[in-house]
Amino acid sequence: MINVAPTLFWLDLCLVGIGAYLVKQVLNKNPSYPPGPRGWPLIGNIQDIPQIKPWLTFAEWGKKYGAISHVKVMGQHIIVLNSVKSTIAMLDKKGTIYSDRPVLPMSGELVGWKHSLGLLPYGDRFRQYRKNIHQIMGSRAALNVYHLIEEIETRRFLKRVFSNPEQLQAHIRHTAGAIILRISHGYEVKENDDPFIDLADSAMDHFSRSTVPGAFIVDTMPFLANVPEWFPGAGFKRLARECRQTLKELVDLPYKFVKDQMDAGIAPMSFTSNLLEGRILSAEEDHVVKWSAASLYAAGAEATVSTVYSLFLAMTLFPDVQKKAQAEIDAVVGTDRLPAFADRNSLPYIEALVTEILRWNVVGPTPIPHRVTEDDIHEGYLIPKGSLIITNI
Ligand code: HEM
Repeated sequence: MINVAPTLFWLDLCLVGIGAYLVKQVLNKNPSYPPGPRGWPLIGNIQDIPQIKPWLTFAEWGKKYGAISHVKVMGQHIIVLNSVKSTIAMLDKKGTIYSDRPVLPMSGELVGWKHSLGLLPYGDRFRQYRKNIHQIMGSRAALNVYHLIEEIETRRFLKRVFSNPEQLQAHIRHTAGAIILRISHGYEVKENDDPFIDLADSAMDHFSRSTVPGAFIVDTMPFLANVPEWFPGAGFKRLARECRQTLKELVDLPYKFVKDQMDAGIAPMSFTSNLLEGRILSAEEDHVVKWSAASLYAAGAEATVSTVYSLFLAMTLFPDVQKKAQAEIDAVVGTDRLPAFADRNSLPYIEALVTEILRWNVVGPTPIPHRVTEDDIHEGYLIPKGSLIITNI
């Protein structure tokens, strides 16, 4: 008698193997989008994303659908990341396809913010800006070089607050600008009415206004970017021209200041002077140095101002915490000098307080989205090319 049992066993194994392979093939061919709220035909999920505090809604999606969720608004795929792990796995580890930025017709194209790192398309130029900035911000050792500038400008800040406390907000803004301009261009700001600080304030105000979603028709209908200024309803073009001029001055004038100082042999060390020293730049290199320096201001000033505002707010709302923080400083530093960076490791309560401020009032709960340049399969989900990635972490 023929024993069929072993033959059947091997046949079963083969069939299971082939079945698993086919299922995998089908799944790989048709991976689904990450989960998310159901949309409506045509308009998709437009009603699911609130204009005010959208990050609270995104956090709810995180609880309901997991770390990666998906919606579609007027044909645009949007992926919301609610975990640090997914954010690192996608935006960092797969940075070559996740680092592009959306095209914003008003602020990016017409005003020209697309040349700053925050809206710069991914490519060689992008990598060059990042390389330059990495030199001054890429490590703790690189940042330590600027401690002295931060300490000097902080003392000036305290003097101003002491003599004119009603102007606290203006002092914070002035100081954040002063620190960054010294780092980026070696420029020492004037005590009052500094032209570069005023210029930067106007440019940043224009940036905030020109990126408000839905504020400009050209953002919904990009072809309108080509209409002439006199065209009825094309007020946005006139506004864009004014904003473009301010931005151009913000980028060009501090850069010219550094070059003039270098020609005169009196330029202090700065991000820009380091990149210019001993080099004759091509037009492209000139653009990269000029705009990567300006990107520092654009990226750093508002974030710093907002964080320091939060510190003052927290100290007003929670006086007990303020008392504990002061007690630690008095015990460690004493009362006859101000704290310095060298004291940092001996001030654990202050360190925790700073971290808590950043957590308590997150500066950019939903930063400028990234854009995916190729279809990707991530954790089994399809992330289609062109998706906008919003981080909510
Ligand atoms: C509380 C302070 C700050 C916070 C919370 C903060 C937060 C952020 C966030 C969320 C991004 C977006 C990252 C992305 O989309 O991939 C960013 C980008 C950036 N920040 Fe900050 N930032 C702060 C201060 C600063 C300062 C002081 C500077 C420089 C002086 C700076 C320079 C930059 C630059 C250059 C980028 C663009 C990086 C890139 O696209 O590669 N930031 N920051």
